[in-house]
Amino acid sequence: MNLRLDSDKPDQYGVVGHPITHSWSPFIHGMFAKATDQNVVYRLFDIEPENFRRETLRLFTSGVRGLNVTLPHKQAAAELVNELTPRAARAQAVNTIGLVHDTGLIGDNTDGVGLTRDLEHNLSLDLAAKRVLILGAGGAVRGVLAPLLERKLREVRIANRTPSRARKLAKEFADLGTIVGCGFGELEGPPYDLIINGTSASLQGEMPDMPVGLVNEETVCYDMAYGRGHTPFTLWAKSLHARRTTKGWGMLVEQAAESFLLWRGIRPDTKPVLEALTTHG
Ligand code: ATR
Repeated sequence: MNLRLDSDKPDQYGVVGHPITHSWSPFIHGMFAKATDQNVVYRLFDIEPENFRRETLRLFTSGVRGLNVTLPHKQAAAELVNELTPRAARAQAVNTIGLVHDTGLIGDNTDGVGLTRDLEHNLSLDLAAKRVLILGAGGAVRGVLAPLLERKLREVRIANRTPSRARKLAKEFADLGTIVGCGFGELEGPPYDLIINGTSASLQGEMPDMPVGLVNEETVCYDMAYGRGHTPFTLWAKSLHARRTTKGWGMLVEQAAESFLLWRGIRPDTKPVLEALTTHG
């Protein structure tokens, strides 16, 4: 006889993306669940863009309670949910979906708070009055623009392979501060205080061609991508003697903690998880 009660079953969560095999999210959420004594499982779901809507809805109807959303689905996720949090509505990109009242789906975006928390809290950077260059104009960048602009930066420049996407994005956020979009070739010095790589070029082992004069010994270079060893972006920054080059492990863990908070009502301590990841990575 099986005496196992339904309440003993772990609540199901996961991340949808394509590709997804490189994801550390199961490890991170596994550590969070253990530390906070939450009975949850967290799995990877590789879903191709053309199946995103159907398969994601199917996961929720089959009992999944929350999903993280990653590349390339963040904008499609904003269209899928029934309701957006104000920060997800501003970004028009969703990285966290939660089930509300057992039927509705709410979409949130925790990327921005993940990045600003990593920059300010873990890396002790003061962002006020800084000149910031962001490479890329996709879903990842959409999520971080509002929280960055709230820091009263001196200037944000978005540069993208497809310049029109950068210009469009800059226009969308122009009410929040000084923000301009352009192509990589239009970039020029003086060197920036902070350069953030939000392109997915690293995933293909590529670094866009950049003009000279963007980096000096004071520049902090932050790659939203993460992985073992250097990325093409961190190698580029190091070759130009940037003050500091950092990969996005901190952003990854901080955004995950915010997702966990949305789903479980508890914000786990991120320090031990970040330490575990950066020792491995
Ligand atoms: P994400 O959700 O990660 O932002 P995305 O919306 O597909 O994914 O956006 C990927 C970003 O990386 C875009 O800014 C893209 O540039 P385009 O808008 O020109 O497509 C950028 N990107 C991808 N591969 C790149 C490469 N090899 N060199 C430069 N930029 C690249």
